[in-house]
Amino acid sequence: MIKIFPQFEDDLLIRLFHKGVKAQWTVSDVEWQQPLMMGEDEARALAHMLTPVYLGEQSAMIGASVVLPQMALAGETTSQIYLSSFLMDEARHFEVLTHLYKRLGEDPLNVRQMPAMLRYHNRLRKGDRIDWVWGILISDVFAKNFYQIFSRSQPQALFGGLSGRILQDESRHQAFAEHYLKGAIPQLESARLLELVKMKDELLDIMDNMYEHLLDDAGRLNIDGRLFLDELRAEIEYKAKRIGLSLDGPSGKETTKQMFSGVGEGVKSAVQDLSSKFQGLKASRCDTCFVALLCRTRLVRTAQCS
Ligand SMILES: [Fe+2]
Ligand SMILES: [Fe+2]
Repeated sequence: MIKIFPQFEDDLLIRLFHKGVKAQWTVSDVEWQQPLMMGEDEARALAHMLTPVYLGEQSAMIGASVVLPQMALAGETTSQIYLSSFLMDEARHFEVLTHLYKRLGEDPLNVRQMPAMLRYHNRLRKGDRIDWVWGILISDVFAKNFYQIFSRSQPQALFGGLSGRILQDESRHQAFAEHYLKGAIPQLESARLLELVKMKDELLDIMDNMYEHLLDDAGRLNIDGRLFLDELRAEIEYKAKRIGLSLDGPSGKETTKQMFSGVGEGVKSAVQDLSSKFQGLKASRCDTCFVALLCRTRLVRTAQCS
């Protein structure tokens, strides 16, 4: 018998998709007349600190469009359906933060001012759909914690209110990523698990590096950046355990160390290559064009990619 229709089980991803579709909003729903409740220096500091999150929104939108066909090839129907709503969420966040920058009267940092951003996004686009979902979960936890600072401390201010809206979307993204990874990770061989652990460590190290560039800005906003990153690291380690990605015990940690010593060289040369390409972008183009540059090449498909 020929099966014509895909089978949509009533699983969590379909429920998240329905939730996402019903919760859509646009830039015109934001109360832009709300006060900023911050001075010029603080607005500039926010513009700087928001930059990695802002680029992350665009990068997530583009990455979803690359990964969606991989899920189709793997027959992951409900993941595809869900990811369509994710893509729209990230597009909205990207648009709304662009409007916020105009309201702040400030620009995001560019990649020359904070080269670690280039390394971060270059790392995110390596691997297959499982790597991508893991990277998205890590990035979403970072974004969630950042937005939470403002939604809790300044709910009456423009960015605090906006953060509250975005957080509702981000909670669906995290639920998706955890669910997807909990299903995928038990199928992976130990070498692949070690790669995912290494990826987490690399992304967290790059985040630490980014913080070094944002130390003064964090201080202007009364944010303890070190504490923020320490808590972020602890939360991501906790998530790693929850999805089954844990190498507890001395042997696991040692194996990871041995297996991945020297990988940084490969990353370095890839970054140098991308950095040299970036030099060619005309100054008249927007500051976030490097994300588009990263996406000119396809994601590398590994043997794990169906
Ligand atoms: Fe987002
Ligand atoms: Fe997200």
